[in-house]
Amino acid sequence: MAYRDFQHFLEILEQQGELKRISYPLDPVLEITEVADRVMKSGGPALLIEGPKGYDIPVAINTFGSRRRMSMALGVQDFEEIAREIENLLKPEIPERFIEKIGMLPKLLRLADMPPKKRGGDGLCQQVVLTGDEVDIEKLPHLKCWPEDGGRYITLPLVFTHDPNTGKRNVGMYRIQVLNRNTTAMHWQLHKVGAEHYRLAEEKQQPIQVAVVLGGDPALTYSATAPLPPGIDEMMFAGFLRRQPVELVKCKTVDVWVPADAEIVLEGYVNPGERVMEGPFGDHTGYYSLADLYPVFHVTAVTHRRNPVYPATIVGRPPMEDAWLGKATERIFLPLIRLMVPEIVDMNLPVEACFHNLAIVSIKKRYPGHAFKVMNALWGLGQLMFTKIIIVVDDDVNVHDMYEVIWRFTNNIDPERDMLVTRGPIDVLDHASRMLGFGSKIGFDATRKWPSEGFTREWPEVITMSPEVKQRIDQIWHQLGLD
Ligand SMILES: Cc1cc2nc3c(=O)[nH]c(=O)nc-3n(C[C@H](O)[C@H](O)[C@H](O)COP(=O)(O)O)c2cc1C
Repeated sequence: MAYRDFQHFLEILEQQGELKRISYPLDPVLEITEVADRVMKSGGPALLIEGPKGYDIPVAINTFGSRRRMSMALGVQDFEEIAREIENLLKPEIPERFIEKIGMLPKLLRLADMPPKKRGGDGLCQQVVLTGDEVDIEKLPHLKCWPEDGGRYITLPLVFTHDPNTGKRNVGMYRIQVLNRNTTAMHWQLHKVGAEHYRLAEEKQQPIQVAVVLGGDPALTYSATAPLPPGIDEMMFAGFLRRQPVELVKCKTVDVWVPADAEIVLEGYVNPGERVMEGPFGDHTGYYSLADLYPVFHVTAVTHRRNPVYPATIVGRPPMEDAWLGKATERIFLPLIRLMVPEIVDMNLPVEACFHNLAIVSIKKRYPGHAFKVMNALWGLGQLMFTKIIIVVDDDVNVHDMYEVIWRFTNNIDPERDMLVTRGPIDVLDHASRMLGFGSKIGFDATRKWPSEGFTREWPEVITMSPEVKQRIDQIWHQLGLD
């Protein structure tokens, strides 16, 4: 089921007991964080802060913050269903008989939902249009999340840009630091597609037009966080997820099309060569990311609904709400990763390691050195390039059971022989790497070693009890008084 918009999602969350209203006027400066952090850490509900202190616009937070709500956001019982659907879509079957062709129709219809639709007229997000001197983004309840943050931030924005050469759209979630009534910093990091669009615009010495969108069907928000390859339109992906095309309307002051039913839109441009100090910001690593120079976004218009809700999140020491956006990505993108690295059986990017610090991958090992091939493939694959540590295990290991992973990993390696240290791009937020965005990575082959890999000793069996004894003990268990 597609949601009309963000407020529709909130309604359904409330009906399902997944949202709690807070009438107390919590301050967007630090207080909302302290409450949301406690609620996120304890697996609590989404929050709707009806009247944040000093503002008449409600703030919604933690709307993606559990497996159930993340699944609800994507309109499914569980987000694994989407992985199965993608797997099914990727099956290269060529129908021969008529009945098989008919059987393919649902697949094709699913794809027909994907392209977004441009429509004329104003969107709900344009019920109120403020331009020129009327623009004052400081009237919105932006959060100051943590004590040492450099200011107030928009934490759940969808940043729309177009490739200046091809016109292709990108939508990425990049935090926005509010500087004054009509300027913000633009935190698209070095490796992200928004930054590449900007570099291309800078090469032409041109400003780049930008729209920063808050709200819309939550499938859109998720899509902005998803590591889609450059050139794959996030609005198309959102259309696939919500089984309905995303309706777009034209912005008032820039040539960018935005979701018609969004809550709030900031329109504007980023000039070539202009930079401002951004940060520090209490980040999803659990540390402050340091202040650095980032481009400047000039706001030419603010449009919004008559009664908008302001969607927000906080990041910080894991687990936080974004753990669920990340877990959804881990599951949804696994079939796509397996398209290129088919020997991968399963993958776990643990929340505690902030996703990009550790990947545990199980493989069906087929040839000597196979684990090293998989590590290299992952370090070359999209945003998985940021992975600092990769542990490769055999396919009989449950990668989601960290007890099992640590037991197998530590027992199965001869560290010197089984590690591969390499260098490459590192997440900009990594504070330990020798330079910003560049550093080393390590992979461990924790699979069983084969003679063809030079392992001449005998590899021992894992201890298990014989089935007959297990069965006999099962039968007499209740007589032992141990229940
Ligand atoms: C809550 C949240 C905040 C994020 N903030 C940023 C950010 O400030 N800058 C950034 O480059 N990526 C940020 N990301 C990660 C990007 O959204 C993610 O890498 C996305 O795939 C980028 O899209 P792109 O590949 O189209 O650039 C954030 C993700 C989440 C979930």
